[in-house]
Amino acid sequence: MTTELVKNIDWVGYVDWNVRDFHSFDTFRGATYNSYLIRDDKTVVIDAVKGLYATRLIQNIAEKTELVKVDYVVCNHAEPDHAGGLVTLMANLPNAVLLCNAKCRESLAAYFDISNWKIQVVSPEDKISLGNRTLNFVNTPMVHWPESMFTYIPEEQLLFSMDAFGQHLATSVRFDDLYDLETILAEAKSYYANIVTPYSKQVLRTLETAAKTPIKMIAPSHGLIWRTNVSKIVEAYQSWAGGKYVPKVLILFDSMWDSTTQMAEAILNGAAKTSDKIDVQLLHVRRTNLTRIATEMLDAAAVALGSATLNLQMMPQMASVITYLRGLKFTSKSALAFGSYGWAHAGSDQLDRWIEETGWTRLTKPIDAKFRPTPEILEHCRNAGQLLANTALEIGK
Ligand code: FEO
Repeated sequence: MTTELVKNIDWVGYVDWNVRDFHSFDTFRGATYNSYLIRDDKTVVIDAVKGLYATRLIQNIAEKTELVKVDYVVCNHAEPDHAGGLVTLMANLPNAVLLCNAKCRESLAAYFDISNWKIQVVSPEDKISLGNRTLNFVNTPMVHWPESMFTYIPEEQLLFSMDAFGQHLATSVRFDDLYDLETILAEAKSYYANIVTPYSKQVLRTLETAAKTPIKMIAPSHGLIWRTNVSKIVEAYQSWAGGKYVPKVLILFDSMWDSTTQMAEAILNGAAKTSDKIDVQLLHVRRTNLTRIATEMLDAAAVALGSATLNLQMMPQMASVITYLRGLKFTSKSALAFGSYGWAHAGSDQLDRWIEETGWTRLTKPIDAKFRPTPEILEHCRNAGQLLANTALEIGK
């Protein structure tokens, strides 16, 4: 099935309703791999789909045009969820020249046998005339791979933004005004948190470039196409990339015999009673997937990390969480560590060191409880919750 964006520009991608794992991203709402077909004097395919679904893409293109008429295939991004389908696609488009930047050519050559592909390397100075429209290219390095690129059609004010502004969301409609906006933005936030966060500086530079460009429609490589709420998603990206935090306290913990849970709940109660303007989230890391944890982390101003001690280590799932968070490079949080122990404490110490190494502001020494938290320690935890809340209110103004 295809969908028209504007006259003679159609979505021809694939909706992956049942994908649930995307290299560890929990895609519980499915995903889409968006490809687009432009029919002008020249015919162009913008981006492909995951390799498995290349035949569906080819069927969609064939619904609209003869395959021999395709002149160009643009590759904005070499990651296999888009470029994987190029192998079959290029084999079926005898007259197509692949347009990509020099970095992308390198990546494609490393991934695939491209010896039979006709490739034209393009740069931002190049303008490819299609007849009534023109293809312009904007390199967006590290948003989120080195070769990442946008393609822009000035005559339509249409931006093909590859992963940027995308969401993992399978739907039967293609446009932002035909689906619940709150869900689209929530999925865009999750996508940003889990995929884009480490490259926020590069995103800010890209947004500066985008601000000089009139944009009526953003057609990303995943999820809904932005045609009514362009300014909302651009503003959301400015906020996420700019590290703008809300008054939120995020408590992540793992417990063995309930002691660290009691401490976590005391921190929660201390934070919650501080102000009704504060959002407090309490997440047990063995009951919550990494995708949700990273999404909650994105705009949280203050964080408490808690772990019991197991075999002189923090609990294993908490170690997995902090490894994941380290890679995502969330910056400028204010944080503290806590946890219970038996005969030697390690969990809270390791979390405390992690907070320091990550460059976050350490609000207090770790809070420890030997076997069970005493009433005094629980009071200490409530006070720590208050400290976290006041910090979050200050930062998240
Ligand atoms: Fe959707 Fe970075 O690939």
